[in-house]
Amino acid sequence: MAKEHQLSTKGVRAGQVRTEFNEHAEALFLTSSFLFDNAAQAAARFANQEEGMVYSRYTNPTVSMFQDRLAAMEGAETCVATASGMAAILATAMVHLKAGDHVVCSNAVFGATIQLFNNILGRFGIETSYVSPTKMQEWERSVRKNTRLFFLETPSNPMTEVCDISALARIAKSAGALLAVDNVLCTPALQRPLELGADIVVHSATKYLDGQGRVMGGAICGSKALVGDVLVPFLRTAGPALAPFNAWVLLKGLETLELRILAESASALELARWLQDHPAVSRVHYPGLSSHPQYELAKRQQRAAGAVLSFEVKGGKAAAWRLIDATQLVSHTPNLGDVKTTIIHPASTTHGRISPEARAAAGITDGLVRLAVGLEAVEDLKQDLSRGLEAG
Ligand SMILES: Cc1ncc(COP(=O)(O)O)c(C=O)c1O
Repeated sequence: MAKEHQLSTKGVRAGQVRTEFNEHAEALFLTSSFLFDNAAQAAARFANQEEGMVYSRYTNPTVSMFQDRLAAMEGAETCVATASGMAAILATAMVHLKAGDHVVCSNAVFGATIQLFNNILGRFGIETSYVSPTKMQEWERSVRKNTRLFFLETPSNPMTEVCDISALARIAKSAGALLAVDNVLCTPALQRPLELGADIVVHSATKYLDGQGRVMGGAICGSKALVGDVLVPFLRTAGPALAPFNAWVLLKGLETLELRILAESASALELARWLQDHPAVSRVHYPGLSSHPQYELAKRQQRAAGAVLSFEVKGGKAAAWRLIDATQLVSHTPNLGDVKTTIIHPASTTHGRISPEARAAAGITDGLVRLAVGLEAVEDLKQDLSRGLEAG
């Protein structure tokens, strides 16, 4: 695919390989293994001396199409797909870290990411320090001789803090560490971390890349040296590969990604402004509002502010639960990135396992509600939320 094509073109065209039947849509290769013409070919393929399919844990044409399409969209040399977003983060850590290494991680990353670094990688001699995503001095001060990886999400979920990727890339580089960015909330349609100096981009494809809440998937994008060369052998040996059916669904998701996330971001901005003026709401966290502390940075770094916002209702947990329980249209579920708007109370669900002190430090108050805005009409969403907001 020509480099000069626009993102929307890449989303529908990049990576497609047609079979002898010349099918128009991407083919789904629902097969666990592939035939060899003869014994010499089998031996050559197993020894990596000849390119070609062997077994779907290593390579599959539908998975390859998804990888190539996402790589084109992220501006990456290579992309390796995984079974889930957590598998993508685990695989990145497994190939780039070893016992005795140190990680500096934003304290505002997905809860399972923190558990992975602490409870799993910690058992293998990898230590992680947590810092504020917006305080560059904390990142600088946390660097040790053995720091090998910086890890962050921007914007963060659910507080929507925006981290300066270019500034962190410079700090990581001078520390001799790799910078990995979880690009779940923005996707390449809104933000391309590799162009800003990041070394690795990880995705939970389960979210916006699918976009319709159907399948699990993950991906790692970056240079051939940091991603393709090391992660393909890791997946082949360790096994968290993406299923071909899921890759086929995700290919279809990428086709509409740009359209969806731009429309969802526009609705999120309208809702954020409306909530900001609502008498039952004390605070709205959304990078598209000029009141957001990183509003200028988000404008520079992102094409739009994204579709996730959070807000604090007056009256704490009781008011937040009342609002959620009064909704009839939005879906009460922890997923995000779906065309169906979702709502959740972070303090008692996604962040319920962390201590009240840590929750308070992260700004996750009992009155906080997270919305991941979908494609319904904004007026219908306002009406649905109004019922609970006005009940207090
Ligand atoms: C920002 C972020 N990263 C990673 C993950 C993990 O992805 P998955 O659920 O596909 O394993 C999630 C899931 O919610 C997420 O929100």
